[in-house]
Amino acid sequence: MVRTIRVHRVGGPECLSMDDTALPPPSRGEVQVQHTAIGVNFLDCYHRSGLYPLPALPHGVGGEAVGRVVAVGDGVHTIAIGERVAYGGHVPPGSYADARNVPAWRLVPIPAGVEDTTIAALLLKGLTAEFLVRRVTKVGRGHHVLVHAAAGGVGLLLCQWLRHVGATVYGVVSTPEKAEVARAHGCHQVIVRSEENVVDVVQRMTQGKGLDVVYDSVGKSTLRESLQCLKKRGLLVAFGNSSGRPDPVAITELQAGSFYLTRPTLHDYTSTREELLHAAQVLFELVAGGVLRARIDSTLPLAEAAAAHRRLESRQSTGAIVLVP
Ligand SMILES: NC(=O)c1ccc[n+]([C@@H]2O[C@H](COP(=O)([O-])OP(=O)(O)OC[C@H]3O[C@@H](n4cnc5c(N)ncnc54)[C@H](OP(=O)(O)O)[C@@H]3O)[C@@H](O)[C@H]2O)c1
Repeated sequence: MVRTIRVHRVGGPECLSMDDTALPPPSRGEVQVQHTAIGVNFLDCYHRSGLYPLPALPHGVGGEAVGRVVAVGDGVHTIAIGERVAYGGHVPPGSYADARNVPAWRLVPIPAGVEDTTIAALLLKGLTAEFLVRRVTKVGRGHHVLVHAAAGGVGLLLCQWLRHVGATVYGVVSTPEKAEVARAHGCHQVIVRSEENVVDVVQRMTQGKGLDVVYDSVGKSTLRESLQCLKKRGLLVAFGNSSGRPDPVAITELQAGSFYLTRPTLHDYTSTREELLHAAQVLFELVAGGVLRARIDSTLPLAEAAAAHRRLESRQSTGAIVLVP
C-alpha cells in the first residue's frame, strides 16, 4: 500500500484526502517511481475543483514528481532500477503519492548535483517556460513582453528566460513584496496591480505602441486587459485560468489591432519523446549555466497537500510549492 492524496468529490482543498491505495506492479511500458519530491501546480487545483474534469472519482491529483525507479515493466529497456528520474506533464493526474507507475517514455533524466526539491520546483514549470519563450513564438532582443503573475511558479522562470533572450520584461503582480521578487528574477518593469493601471503603464512605457507579446496565465480577470496592452499585430498567449476560465473572445475583437491569440498547452508542445527530451535538455542547460534559478516558496509534507492548495489559490506563494512524501 502507498499513501495517495485523492479527490473523492470535487470542490475546495478540503476535498483532498490521504488514502492508502494498492500499487500494482508496473504494466508493460511503465516504471514504478518512489517519489522524493512532488511539484505543486495550479493545474492540480483545476482537477481538484472540477474545472478540469477527472476521468473518474476517487482519483489522484498532481502532474509531476522526482524519485527513484524501484520496478520496471516489460518492454522497458532504457531505464534501470535505482535511476533517479523525474516527470512533468502529460501523465494522468496522480503524482501526490509515495510512489506510482508512470509511462517510461515520459521520464526525463535529471542532472546530478541538483536537489530533488529543486527539480520538482522547476521541471513542469520550466518546460512550460521553454515552449512559451522559444516555440509559441520566438522571443528575442528588441521585443517588449508582459508576464501576468510574474512572481508565481511559472512566472519567475518565464521572466528570467525572457530577459536572458534579450526581451524587455514587464511583470504584473498583486503586492509590493511580490514586485521585489519579480524584479530579482528578471523583470525590468514591475506593475503592482493595486497601485497602477496596467494598460496605462504599458502605453506610457512603450510610447503608445504596446507590447509584442502578453503571457496571460490569470485568464478570466485579465484577458481583455491583455488585449489592450498589445501593439498592432501583437500576440496574446493565454495559457492559464488562475482567476477562472476566460470569457470567449470574438474573432472581431482581434480586428482592433490585427492581433494574434493562442491558447497553448504543455501537452501539445511535449507530445513526442524527442520534443520532451529536447525541451528538458534546454531547460537543464540554463539551470546549470545559472540563467534560471528555482525559487521554492515552501516545502510541505505530502499530508499537507490541502494547505499547499490553499496557499497557492489564495495568492500567498511566490515561486513553487513542493510536497515531500
Ligand atoms: N498551458 C499550459 O500548458 C500550462 C502549464 C503550466 C502552467 N500553466 C498555467 O500557468 C499558471 C501559473 O501556474 P503556477 O502553478 O505557476 O501558479 P502561480 O502562478 O504560482 O500561482 C498563481 C498566481 O496567479 C495570480 N492570480 C491572479 N488572480 C488570481 C486569482 N483570482 N486566484 C489565484 N491566483 C491569481 C497570483 O499572483 P498575483 O497575486 O501576483 O496576482 C497567484 O500567485 C496557471 O494558470 C497554470 O494553469 C499552464
